[in-house]
Amino acid sequence: MTQIQVTVNGRVVARDVEPRTLLVHFLREAAGLTGTHVGCDTSQCGACTVHLDGRGVKSCTVLAVQADGSHVTTIEGLGNGAMHALQVAFREEHGLQCGFCTPGMIMSAADLLSRNPNPSEDEIRRALEGNLCRCTGYHNIVRAVQHAARSMATA
Ligand code: FES
Ligand code: FES
Repeated sequence: MTQIQVTVNGRVVARDVEPRTLLVHFLREAAGLTGTHVGCDTSQCGACTVHLDGRGVKSCTVLAVQADGSHVTTIEGLGNGAMHALQVAFREEHGLQCGFCTPGMIMSAADLLSRNPNPSEDEIRRALEGNLCRCTGYHNIVRAVQHAARSMATA
């Protein structure tokens, strides 16, 4: 076991972990934040996407020990206690049905908008390529990201 300390949504979480523990399991089990989902075992679905030191990563591809000393933001911390513009936009544009992929979609979209506040439709589709949705057909998800970009620009 190795002791690690990760700042998750502004709260320090210190735990002993096995070297093989994945960041996604650390977040769900040690930090108790189950908004980060596990949707595959092949690193393809993106449901586990979080921000690690400000950049979107699939947390099933990162060992918890690699995140020692880092800052992680999960879907629970994105809006700082309120609904983030992306969460509002996904609801208003019907960008979710079952909602399983939504946390990962939103974390990837937030990463995109932090780097490119006014992305084209093509840029949005490329940024979300690593996130799979089994319900929505993606059109409303893209519209939701465009909607959020507009509201963030006028906020
Ligand atoms: S659970 Fe991480 S990509 Fe699917
Ligand atoms: S809303 Fe169901 S998987 Fe995307």
